[in-house]
Amino acid sequence: MAEDLTIISGTKQEQYETLVPQIKGLLEGEDDLVANLANVAAALKEQFNWLWVGFYLVKNEELVLGPFQGPVACTRIKKGKGVCGSSWEQQKTLIVPDVEKFPGHIACSSASRSEIVIPIIRDREVIGVLDVDSKELNEFDTVDQNYLEQIISLINFS
Ligand code: SME
Repeated sequence: MAEDLTIISGTKQEQYETLVPQIKGLLEGEDDLVANLANVAAALKEQFNWLWVGFYLVKNEELVLGPFQGPVACTRIKKGKGVCGSSWEQQKTLIVPDVEKFPGHIACSSASRSEIVIPIIRDREVIGVLDVDSKELNEFDTVDQNYLEQIISLINFS
């Protein structure tokens, strides 16, 4: 496993194209879920320098905070609550260009301006979410959605 990530500048697409194979490399040969989620969160944070990147995992019908990079965050989110709980309930990726306009948004950090949440679905059930927050408005689009969904599909959750 490479010890350092190669961080590049360029278009968002170019950045993901360089990052995805490196994430594949980080995941290869390691089957510990916490270790893998921690490295994926760190790799995304290092490349894109977003405010917050992390995972919530479903435990006893709640999303519970998992490995993340960024400021401390709320530890538990119920189904249907906030962007994360809504993504879980609707079983789809939610892109929020302005968090202040999302009814019920949970403000873990007052610096967050926009957000994307990708549900992690296995056997048609949501088992967790990947949540990314940015300090900028309108940070996320379908390019992020496609690549982040691809990255999640690389992780072995079983
Ligand atoms: N903003 C999220 C809560 C999690 S933090 O952003 C890390 C939400 O509304 O679900």
